[in-house]
Amino acid sequence: MSTPSIPANVLNELNRQYNQELSAAHSYRALSFWCEAQNFKGFACFFDKQAEEEIAHAKRIAAHLIDRRVLPQTGTLPAPKHDFQSLLEAARHAQSMEEINTKGIHTVYEAALASKDYPAQVLMHWFINEQVEEERWSTEMVERVQAATCAGSLSDLDRHIERLLAEKLFADLEKDDE
Ligand SMILES: [Fe+2]
Ligand SMILES: [Fe+2]
Repeated sequence: MSTPSIPANVLNELNRQYNQELSAAHSYRALSFWCEAQNFKGFACFFDKQAEEEIAHAKRIAAHLIDRRVLPQTGTLPAPKHDFQSLLEAARHAQSMEEINTKGIHTVYEAALASKDYPAQVLMHWFINEQVEEERWSTEMVERVQAATCAGSLSDLDRHIERLLAEKLFADLEKDDE
């Protein structure tokens, strides 16, 4: 491909974030397997979908790079945490990953602002919004697991987790959400 049209610091951040999204997918896959093994099939299914979403996020960044004639640099991914003491620990792990991911997105955006890279800024607007949503469900998940104090309420929560986390007060305002 020809000479990169993206400022070097923005390119570094976009590549880093591309790999961070892949790494998040890796972690959600591990979370899904752990939940499945613990018979939390609802959580397993939810985390599996999150893994696919994170792949889609990585592809969104990669497509932006390719549109701007730069090859994405796929790196080595660290092994994700694969074992947890409890469902609460698993949920907290997801929450802390999303918090870290938000910081990553903001770092890309700050680089794009500093370099006046308008296309990358617009790309990051989508991700900044997406992270508000990701932090919303991951916090709600932690709170709901914390509130489910007996075995019966945990398995009930497992059965309905996907619907519960998807339900939003003003859902009709966010039809464009992905
Ligand atoms: Fe993501
Ligand atoms: Fe995420």
